[in-house]
Amino acid sequence: MRILLFSGKGGVGKTSLAAATGVRLSQLGYRTLVMSIDPAHSLADSFDLDTGLFHSQTSDPFSLGDRLAILELNIQKEIQRHWQEISTWVVSLLRTTGIGGVQAEELAILPGMEELSAMMYINQYRREERYDVIVLDAAPTAESMRFISMPTTLDWYMKHIFPFQRSVLKAVRPIANRVAPFELPPDSYFANIRNLFDKLAGVDELMEDPQVTSVRLVTNPEKMVLRETQRAFVYFSLHGLTVDNVIVNRVLPREAAGAWFDEWHASQEKILREIEDYFAPVPTRRVPLFTHEVLGRQRLEELAAVMYAEGEDPAAVTRTERPYTFGKREGFYEVRVLLPFATKGEIGLFKKGDELVVEIGTFRRHIGLPTSMAALTPSRARLESSVLTVEMKEVPS
Ligand SMILES: Nc1ncnc2c1ncn2[C@@H]1O[C@H](COP(=O)(O)OP(=O)(O)OP(=O)(O)O)[C@@H](O)[C@H]1O
Ligand SMILES: [Mg+2]
Repeated sequence: MRILLFSGKGGVGKTSLAAATGVRLSQLGYRTLVMSIDPAHSLADSFDLDTGLFHSQTSDPFSLGDRLAILELNIQKEIQRHWQEISTWVVSLLRTTGIGGVQAEELAILPGMEELSAMMYINQYRREERYDVIVLDAAPTAESMRFISMPTTLDWYMKHIFPFQRSVLKAVRPIANRVAPFELPPDSYFANIRNLFDKLAGVDELMEDPQVTSVRLVTNPEKMVLRETQRAFVYFSLHGLTVDNVIVNRVLPREAAGAWFDEWHASQEKILREIEDYFAPVPTRRVPLFTHEVLGRQRLEELAAVMYAEGEDPAAVTRTERPYTFGKREGFYEVRVLLPFATKGEIGLFKKGDELVVEIGTFRRHIGLPTSMAALTPSRARLESSVLTVEMKEVPS
């Protein structure tokens, strides 16, 4: 199975390009699912579907015939299906603070539930071998980062906090429930989390395997958009995902001539060159600004026709460079992390348990070390041609 994740700044064209890619893939014979993980869904709109009909569906994929289906996760239905136990507890907790009814239910949608639900589906579809390709239409960059960091965050929580919380609560619950102003979560709450966690098993490896998951970064030929695209590139690499293509959407075509557009042409040309230089060796492709919105199947097919050459397979694996690797050189163990565009000053590095933690700005990545390196400590790090090499050494005790 292949996963193609379309990400980028708000409004750059992610949904349209993801949908067009889905159309092309299904025409090539792949069983394809285009799945929106953006809470503000617009996938059905992109296909110009009758949303009444579409939304009466459950959270199951909606078939568009000939091997193509789309799915917009309905978080309320997801909560009923997977999160009941957790949200019931949160709602009851909120009630004790005076927040009731619908408002409490709204607030009980904890950040991350949507992303986790999406991951569960991806895992389930993989097990069922239901699709050949899943195209993910992601939310704007910041939320996408939350999506991809979810498995490691959860893994960390399950390893470090969960067992502790559970055993502490087991011990204090009988007394605390008599004196606390609200009920502490029952043990079934933890059983529920454990169960959810098990459903996610293996999804992180799926996301980090370049043979499975490729990120397609969507951008526009504008300076501000480019900045965010570069940041996204760093964060995806930090999380072990492989970006295999940068798609520049809404490029003014030559035909759009005339004094009004001269300046636009010039600035776009300059930024396009900048983009190609920045992201090399990751290839870039250009998609022109159409004379109309991209709405409905016909338009999506036209878009696919300019995005991809005739017969080109959008699911082909073209880049397999792993964002981080482990190795041994001159007797030293090394961790090499690909960090395009990161600068020396902004990288933080430390060891926590058997993990190496790399920080860039507010983003943090826990890199699980192989057993042979788990007891070692980072001794030196250098950033050279976008590769951060961390030397790991034994510390005499
Ligand atoms: N190349 C193009 N030419 C003309 N219109 C386009 C092009 N690409 C996208 N659009 C239009 O731009 C609008 C925004 O596109 P789209 O919804 O795909 O962006 P998005 O990145 O998914 O936005 P959001 O971040 O809000 O989810 C849509 O109306 C779409 O039809
Ligand atoms: Mg969108």
